[in-house]
Amino acid sequence: MSVCALIPAAGSGRRMRMKENKTRLLLRGKPVLIHTLSAFEACEAVDDVIVIAGSREVDLTCELIRTWGGSSKVREVVSGGATRQESVLCGLRRLTPGCEVVVIHDSARPLVRPSTIRMTIEAARKYGAAIVSVPMRDTIKVVKDGYVTKTLDRDALRAVRTPQAFQREIIEDAYVSAARDGFIATDDSMVVERKGVKVKVLEDELENIKITYREDLVIADSYLAIDKLMDGNGIMCSGSREHLERRVGIGFDVHRLVPGRRLILGGVDIPFDLGLEGHSDADVVLHAIADAILGACALGDIGVVFPCDDPSYEGISSKLILSRVRELAESHGYVVGNVDITVLAEKPKISGFAEEMRRNISSILRIAENHVGIKATTMEGLGFIGAGEGIACFASCNLVSRPLACDVGGSSGDS
Ligand code: CTP
Ligand code: MG
Repeated sequence: MSVCALIPAAGSGRRMRMKENKTRLLLRGKPVLIHTLSAFEACEAVDDVIVIAGSREVDLTCELIRTWGGSSKVREVVSGGATRQESVLCGLRRLTPGCEVVVIHDSARPLVRPSTIRMTIEAARKYGAAIVSVPMRDTIKVVKDGYVTKTLDRDALRAVRTPQAFQREIIEDAYVSAARDGFIATDDSMVVERKGVKVKVLEDELENIKITYREDLVIADSYLAIDKLMDGNGIMCSGSREHLERRVGIGFDVHRLVPGRRLILGGVDIPFDLGLEGHSDADVVLHAIADAILGACALGDIGVVFPCDDPSYEGISSKLILSRVRELAESHGYVVGNVDITVLAEKPKISGFAEEMRRNISSILRIAENHVGIKATTMEGLGFIGAGEGIACFASCNLVSRPLACDVGGSSGDS
């Protein structure tokens, strides 16, 4: 007899006021939904998972889950409804005959712990229905026409969250009859309470917040930044949360100097009687930076991303290459912190062009100009660079995990 998790993710995240659906927004470089699914993957009490996505986002959600990997328990992604209650009902219809306990959890609560999921499931086995809650922080008042009519006893109140777990027949029967009677609930336990079922209330971890408003991403990000958390006995325990990820990369490039070519370094057209030979504009500076960024992301090198046997890259501006590499790093959850380069060239002297190079690089990478270091050296006449046969460049970069996706736009539809 198995335990199935239903993860409603079919909302439109209207209150976030962002273009992207909130379950796909990045937290520490990882989509909210993937954080949530990871907790279910790690919870040994859960056998399989059904994700409920918006009707137009089923394929996109499948693709997201496949791309990120590590969610082997996801049995299917089904299409949801216009309200959360309808979405959960869509998931309930897909339960397998062997399912005994159903645990329902908002995709928008990415900080749930496997231990909380397990505790809720165990309580549902024992009591029939179990939910998690936290004490109220604020005093709650009933207000009518702008005046207080009543102050509620704060000690008797609880803010209720997910996960909520139920024995299968209890939740199925309650949802089917709620749909038949047109009963509208604001959480799952309300549906079963109506049928007279006693619901066991458990303590939730404070951090299991729901991403509802933009500010919640910042709060969730701060929770994830805590790499040492107190356990239940007040003892510091480590390793339960991800660390803020920083990465470094190095890049190197060299090209031969030949007559009849322009000399472009750091996006600056430098007057000189020779230019660098290459498939693109042969800008060794931008290529070395691009390689440093790709290296930091462990994505190979520039030749892998822009193969030189691909005719579409013939003569391509290296500014475009670098900006594509930046986008690629961002799509993997990283932004550039700073870059530092050293150009090795016997001639020409590049110090007069360094400021323009710095401006170009800072604008392509979207970092401040004082986050771009530019240095140059001759080779004291030694070797092929010393002989003026070529120019080389070393670059290093620092990437930081991007806490939030900041693509701000209008609402993406109805809730
Ligand atoms: N949800 C759902 N189907 C809906 C509405 C909501 O599956 N028709 C899901 C959401 O994706 C979310 C969870 O239910 O994971 C909790 O809902 P809420 O926080 O209200 O999310 P949204 O409805 O997306 O946000 P908003 O109300 O701000 O539009
Ligand atoms: Mg909603």
